[in-house]
Amino acid sequence: MTTSTQTLLLLPGDGIGPEVTEEARRVAAHVAPDLQIESAFFGGVSYDRFGTPLTEEVMNSARKADAILMGAVGGPQWDSVPRDKRPEAALLAMRKNLDVYANLRPAFCFPALAGASALKRELVEGLDIMIVRELTSGVYFGQPKTIETLPNGERRGVDTQSYTTGEIRRVAARAFELARGRSRTSKFAGVLSCEKSNVMESGLLWREEVTKLHAEKYGDVKLDHMLADAAAMHLVKAPKDINVLLADNLFGDILSDEASMLTGSIGMLPSAALGDPGTPGLYEPVHGSAPDIAGKNIANPIAAILSLEMAMRWSLGRADIADRIFAAVGKALDGGARTTDLGGAMSTRQMADAILKHL
Ligand code: NAD
Ligand code: IPM
Ligand code: MN
Repeated sequence: MTTSTQTLLLLPGDGIGPEVTEEARRVAAHVAPDLQIESAFFGGVSYDRFGTPLTEEVMNSARKADAILMGAVGGPQWDSVPRDKRPEAALLAMRKNLDVYANLRPAFCFPALAGASALKRELVEGLDIMIVRELTSGVYFGQPKTIETLPNGERRGVDTQSYTTGEIRRVAARAFELARGRSRTSKFAGVLSCEKSNVMESGLLWREEVTKLHAEKYGDVKLDHMLADAAAMHLVKAPKDINVLLADNLFGDILSDEASMLTGSIGMLPSAALGDPGTPGLYEPVHGSAPDIAGKNIANPIAAILSLEMAMRWSLGRADIADRIFAAVGKALDGGARTTDLGGAMSTRQMADAILKHL
């Protein structure tokens, strides 16, 4: 039981963001009517209105919320806006300011969708991978980050990959703890840590620190290391070998989009960005604003609804409700509910209704 009122801050954002978060909102209102749901402008829509993709006011609301559910940000209309004012900058600032360093991206193949995957059914049937992506450091944030003009007139783009031991250890600890609760007998039954220690110094440090932390505290969890390029290959060769996949910000971004295709569609993948206990979590579908289908009411709302499911589980202390949402999604899919990305013809609203029917 929860005692005081909990707040969920909705940040619908751009493109299909408002379409899919509206369905998540309907689910939340149905299963947790006591939850206080607030909504705010974020991303491109905030830039258009206020000249900034993230206002101080919205940032403060996020700090005070128990959980934040974001839809998606970005779109071609903001592609020429200066980088620090672009919708994506708001998302990076939100992650950094909330210090949500551990990004959980579960790639789970619902039984009914084994045939919808880009891979053969037998490779994905029973697939259940937890990707743990570092989210507040690495090449996304490292300095210098610039485009400069050289004396010879050429331009040079610079990004900096940087990780400290503390940044590596705290996200790795999360991965080990998650693996403890997910016992497996597969080849990489515990944590599979991915980097490029063969060519990158930060990758070498990553491997050394993960190995040290494992020896210090998590000897009961199996630990394997794999170069990130080989991991990309293994994800399509034998994905069920993998249990918890740990990666830095950039490799985690890429490997999670790849993993989404094993589950049937990128419209299926939710995520939870978590900081230290007691701080608000940021929940968002892994997909973007999908400008190609925005406004058509055909986007798959499941990633958004499962992001709400993760918020219930990881921030709001309502695992029972989370279990019910997860089961309802499974039942809707079993019953044949499919949006176009899954090979069906249902609209965003119809898919959500099919899920609500089981709640
Ligand atoms: P995208 O994820 O928006 O779209 C990739 C493809 O997947 C498109 O064909 C799209 O129609 C499809 N798709 C995505 N979500 C879907 C859904 N729920 N249902 C059905 N189909 C879906 O990636 P992109 O096209 O590379 O990026 C578009 C914009 O979104 C860019 O501005 C990018 O920066 C931004 N983006 C934002 C986030 C975020 O807000 N978290 C994540 C990724 C990309
Ligand atoms: C994601 C997105 C973001 C990222 C972009 C929009 C900043 O691709 O959440 O996966 O690269 O982290
Ligand atoms: Mn991404």
